[in-house]
Order: sequence, then C-alpha cells, then structure tokens
Amino acid sequence: MVHKLTDLYPKLSHINGDDLDFTGITAVVIPVVAAEKIEITKTEFLKKITALTKIDLNIELANWPDFTAKAGEIIEVPITLDDLNRIYLVGVGEKSDDEIRKAASSLGRKVKGTSAVLLSALTEEANLVITQGVAFLLSNYQFSLKSEQKDKKPKLVIYGEFSEEVEHANTLASAVWQCRNLIHTPANIKNPVWLAKQATEMVAAAKTSDLSISVKSGRAIKDFGGLCAVGNSAPDPGPRLIEVTYAPKGSSNWPHVVLVGKGITFDTGGISLKRPYESMIGMKSDMAGAAAVLSATVAMAKIKPKVKVTALLMAAENSLSGTSQRPSDVIKHFGGTTVEVLNTDAEGRLVLADGLAYADLKLDPDYLVDVATLTGAATLGLGRQYAAMYTRQPSLAKKLYEVGNNVGEKVWHMPLVDDYSVALESDIADLNHLADKFGFSAGSVTAALFLERFVGKRNWVHLDIAGTGRSEVDAGENIKGGTGFGTRLLIEWLGSF
Ligand code: BES
Ligand code: MN
Ligand code: ZN
Repeated sequence: MVHKLTDLYPKLSHINGDDLDFTGITAVVIPVVAAEKIEITKTEFLKKITALTKIDLNIELANWPDFTAKAGEIIEVPITLDDLNRIYLVGVGEKSDDEIRKAASSLGRKVKGTSAVLLSALTEEANLVITQGVAFLLSNYQFSLKSEQKDKKPKLVIYGEFSEEVEHANTLASAVWQCRNLIHTPANIKNPVWLAKQATEMVAAAKTSDLSISVKSGRAIKDFGGLCAVGNSAPDPGPRLIEVTYAPKGSSNWPHVVLVGKGITFDTGGISLKRPYESMIGMKSDMAGAAAVLSATVAMAKIKPKVKVTALLMAAENSLSGTSQRPSDVIKHFGGTTVEVLNTDAEGRLVLADGLAYADLKLDPDYLVDVATLTGAATLGLGRQYAAMYTRQPSLAKKLYEVGNNVGEKVWHMPLVDDYSVALESDIADLNHLADKFGFSAGSVTAALFLERFVGKRNWVHLDIAGTGRSEVDAGENIKGGTGFGTRLLIEWLGSF
C-alpha cells in the first residue's frame, strides 16, 4: 500500500431499553411507516423521546405535507438539548428488507464523514436490525489515497437487546468492507502477489487454525494452462493460485464447498486490447470475484458453520506485452482439455476453467461455485441489480435466490441453453473459448456453457457479477467502484449449512 487507509469503519453497538442514556447521543432516529394517514407509531421509544424532548413529533410531521414516508426520505428536526441536536424522522415504507436497507443507507450517507452518534429505533425486528446495521456501515464506505485523509466517522447505537444482531451485522459489513478495499486498490499496487499477501494477512488476522492458506506459482502451477497463458502476459510477478481453506476439526465429514474466484488484477484485454480505451478504467475491479470468495471464506472463522470451504483465487493480470498470449493460440487446461484462444479479452473463463477442473479432479467438492466479473453481456441482460446465476440445480438456485433477496445481493437464474453449445466447437482443439460462432449473441450464457465443460458432474453454480460487482455511481450502500457483491450472499448461504 502506498498510503495506509484511514479506518473509517463506523462503530455499531446497541443499548437495552432499561439502560437508555442520552449522554453523547447527537441524534435520534425514529421510523415513519407509509400508510393512508402518516403518523409516528406510538412505541415505548417514542414515549421516552417525547418525555425527554417535550416535542410532539406528530405535530412536527404535520409541517411536512409532502413527506410520503417512502424508504429513505428523511425529515430533520433540529433540537438543542445537551448533546442532542437532531431528531431524524426516517421513512421506512412498508418495512420490507429492501426498504429498511434504503432507509439505513440514506441515514448512513447523511452522517458520513461526521462524528454524529445516532440512537436508532428504525426497526425492532431482529432480521431487519441486521439489515439496518449492514446498510448503515456500508453506506459509510470510502476509499481514498489522497495525501490529506479525513478521519471523522459516525456511530450507530441500536435501541434494543440486539447484541447478536450487531455482531452479525459487523461480520457481514466488515467482510464486504475488506472486499471493497481489495477491489478499489489500483493495479499499480495490486498484482497477484499483493493479493496473495493480503489474503495471507487476512487469514493471520483471524487468529485461528480453522483457516489456512497456500500460494502457488511457477512450476507448481504449470498444469494450469489458462492461468499461466493469461498471467504470463505480466511475468513480473506472474500468476498465482491462492488457496484459502476453512476446515475446523471434524470438518472432513462435513459437506465441502469449493469457491472459485476470477482474480484478474487488471484486464487490458491483452493483445485483443479493450476498446474504447476508457472501457479499461474500471478493470482493476476484475478481481472482484476472487475478493468476494476470499472475504466470505475468511468470515467463516466467525460464523463457524459446519461446512468445509475451499476458496481458489485465480490471480493473474491480463496485460499487453511481448509475453501475452495471441489470438489463435491453443492452450491446455488442468485435466487436459485443449482450448483455442480466439480473443485474449475473454481471459476470465480461461483462468476459471483451470480452477473448476482442479476442484473437480482434486478436491471432491459437494458444491462448486464460481464468482466472476465475466461478461459485459450479463450487464446488458440484467443491468446492475441482479447477478446472472447459472446452475442445473433448481433447488440450489431457489436457495441462492432467497438468500440474495434477504441480504440485498440479488441473483437471477439464467438458462444454460444447450442449443448454443455448438458455439464452443473448434477445428483444432477440444473447444474454442470465445463461443460466439453462429451469432447466438448470448455472451453470458455461452461463457457459462464453456465453464460447464470443466465441472464434471459436480453441483455447480456460476455467478456472473460483471454488472453487480461495480457501481458506476454513488448510490444506496455503494460508492462508485467495487460493491463487494457476493460476499454477503456467500456468507449467508455457507452459514446456513
Ligand atoms: N472483465 C471483462 C468483463 C467485464 C466487462 C466486466 C465490463 C465488467 C465490466 C471480461 O474479461 C471481458 O473482457 N469479457 C468480454 C468477453 C468477450 C471478449 C467474449 C466482454 O464481455 O466483452
Ligand atoms: Mn477481458
Ligand atoms: Zn476480465
């Protein structure tokens, strides 16, 4: 790291009703539900606030006839009472997951970069307390390498007996935060060795023998033909296979999940150089899949589910150089499948193919999941709110769909269209990897069909996060740049074993 990042992660805590004390609290948060007649619900908390402030907040509310209590709308009531200077009346719509997420994000944005201390009664439902905490924390995310660093950060105190929820929200949000730090780091700092070092530090920081890591390079990965062909375009330091394992005592009898992440630390396209050149600017995020599987796996040390997890980070840079692969090269993947490389910008599937084949042939997974910023086509199809999910297992698809809705990382089940698989034919190799023959135009689908050739008979899921992995604007819980998509989804799914 050139500069050390200032720690801007807000403090999240809770306070039981009986211990309520307003010392140090600068603002109070009260939800307003959207209904025919917009009125603040008369809770114990409201009674306490009214007793303290002697303000009838429903009379205040009547001063804002345009307020609809839509999720995220905020009325600021100024007040001067010891440390207290604001009451936030926050619209929560009909109190759905998404609405609480929106409300908490908009609150988080409002106090981002300040030393505000918020006492919040936004929701009293345990699951939504987690949603609130995570959205508040993530909406405060910043990444700055400016020489002058700002260091103010807010605190959120949740009203109620929610110690477990606060802990879980911290587990989720800190994992996403770490994931975002990895993604936002520019590629002059971030190469495969840097990524391996970060992973090693994350594993060490967890201080548990449940996690372990191995990093392979050079001769040890010579059979990983895709990883090497792509990664040798940047021979200093060259590609790495980073393997992180969560395997507590007794885990040999548990189900085994292998996660494979696309870890392209920068994607120029290689000799098939990306055009227009501006389309390269976001390509430091091309390791977002690897960052997500890493962050989720490391988080297992806190969640402690009964599942063995192996994360394979396929780390390489796709550079334009004298050692770049050429369009028309034929490479041999782990396990022996030969592939004709027609466009060096379709590099993600090449590094993933090795990881998937290695998992299938060597690791005996019960579930095999890959996460990758794989195709622009996924974004064309689904935009930025849903990741494209491919699997032949309807029950698994349903499960991930539900978990995704719950945590705010949504996935949409896409079809593996067998009729398109002829697009993978090659005259001189087992497959061509571009899969754009015959003009099927389903770039995300044909990429998935390519990957499927390497998963054997495993229960496999492919998540194409090209759209969701990066945000183009500051909005909700995201800032422009890496979102950390996949981290929460994987943590909650693995946590359900
Ligand atoms: N990393 C890109 C995909 C991508 C594009 C991710 C935009 C995020 C935003 C991937 O390596 C790529 O270049 N894909 C090509 C595939 C094509 C050459 C078959 C694409 O989508 O254009
Ligand atoms: Mn590419
Ligand atoms: Zn790429």
